[in-house]
Parts: sequence; C-alpha cells; structure tokens
Amino acid sequence: MARRPYIVGNWKMHGTRAMLSEARAIDRAAQRLLKVEVAIAPPYTLIHPIHREAELIAVGAQDCHEAEGGAFTGDISAAMLADAGAQFVILGHSERREGHGESNDLVRAKAEAALAAGLKIILCCGENAATRESGEAIAFVRGQLAASLPRLPEGFADIAERITIAYEPIWAIGTGNTATPQDIGEMHAAIRALLIEQFGEEQGGDVRILYGGSVKPENAGEILRVADVGGALVGGASLTADSFMGIALAVGEPSDN
Ligand code: 13P
Repeated sequence: MARRPYIVGNWKMHGTRAMLSEARAIDRAAQRLLKVEVAIAPPYTLIHPIHREAELIAVGAQDCHEAEGGAFTGDISAAMLADAGAQFVILGHSERREGHGESNDLVRAKAEAALAAGLKIILCCGENAATRESGEAIAFVRGQLAASLPRLPEGFADIAERITIAYEPIWAIGTGNTATPQDIGEMHAAIRALLIEQFGEEQGGDVRILYGGSVKPENAGEILRVADVGGALVGGASLTADSFMGIALAVGEPSDN
C-alpha cells in the first residue's frame, strides 16, 4: 500500500501559547492538502492545547521515558503523552542522542514503551560529518538503526502504520546544508533493505522513511521526489505555517475538498 507523504514539524524547544495561531493555520491549510499527512511535534506544554483545537493534523511529542511511571523527576511517560492527546512520539533524535547521551539500547527501550502505550513512533537515525567524510555513513546508520528498532511482540499488527523512520544526517540539521538527492537515495535504499530484512517485504516495504535536515519550501520538491523518501521531518521551517505548508505543497497539490 502506498502511503501518503508524511510531513512532520519538529518544533524542538520553540513555542509558547502564542504559537497556537501557527498550529491553527497549519491545521486549516492541511485541510486543503489531503494527499499529504501533516503532523507537528510541539513542546510538551502545547500538546494538549493543539490536540484540543486541531481538526485534522496529528500532534506528537519529541521524546518519552522508557518506564511506565515512577520516581523520574522531570520525565514523562508514553501513557502521559497519549493522555494529553499525542498520537506519536519522535525518538532517538540526534539532539537527544548527543545532548542527553541516549544510547541505541535506550532508544529501543523508549520505542518499545511508546508502542506498548499505543503511540506511533518516528525513529531517528543519522551520521555525523566525520562519519560521512570517512565513507562509513551507510554502515553506521544501518548499525544504529538495527540496534534502535523496537523488538515487536508476536502478532504485532500495522508495523507500517505505527513505525516511521527519519534519516537525519547530523551535519545537515539546522545548517542549511542538505544531503544530495543521490546520497539521500542511497541511504534510504539501505534503510529500506534493513526494514525488509527485519519486518518482511510487505510491511518493511511500506514503512515510511522521512528525510530531515534543512528541508525548506525551496528544496522540498527535489528531496521528496527521491525514491524511498516518504516525507520530511522539518525543524526550523516548521515554525511558521507559511514555510511549513510550503513544504507540504511541494508534494501535494491542493485538493478540491
Ligand atoms: P532543521 O530542519 O532545522 O534542519 O531540523 C531538522 C530536524 O532536526 C528535525 O527533526
């Protein structure tokens, strides 16, 4: 089944209630772009307000703890996110891996906890500049992803509906440098092969693989046309409805309804 392109805004640590008007504008614009699936992951404090108001777009979180609950000051569980209205959670972002020392094992534990709580996940992977320059990017990302993917319980249904992968080369995040279409294509093909090994042809072939790293309205069309690119995970350019929906427009023409 070919899935709709998935355009996800990662607001990172940006956004107070003043940003609710942007979320509303994104939601309204998404209603004219039904060939694209649009979602935003705001800071925790905005999940519930956006969930309450949004008619179409999904709202998600940027991290969760791996435990169901307990004495973990400052942390948040997957069930709490679901209770606030989150439908998905981004896990293993390089800003968590690098800034908070998150290992592949921890990312995997979080992914398993999020799925168990009923959330969908967007699992991030990506190499740094040194690894890219050494020519080891594909081997590195393959290893990182293989070690971070959740082990699924017997009979787990809807793998491709519940799991999305995001390839975000660290050197492309917030820098204005994007990977070339050729590099993106090679990496996404390698990730696709791994997903098929893990989940089988049907499900692994259907999981969406997003590209992230300096995606803007100006470069989105070219990136999103690369084979095996199922959408984009967007940071800076997701903070205004104009630029975020410019990216969504690059994949889907406005629909009549
Ligand atoms: P930028 O789009 O700002 O480069 O951020 C990408 C990103 O990290 C999304 O998760």
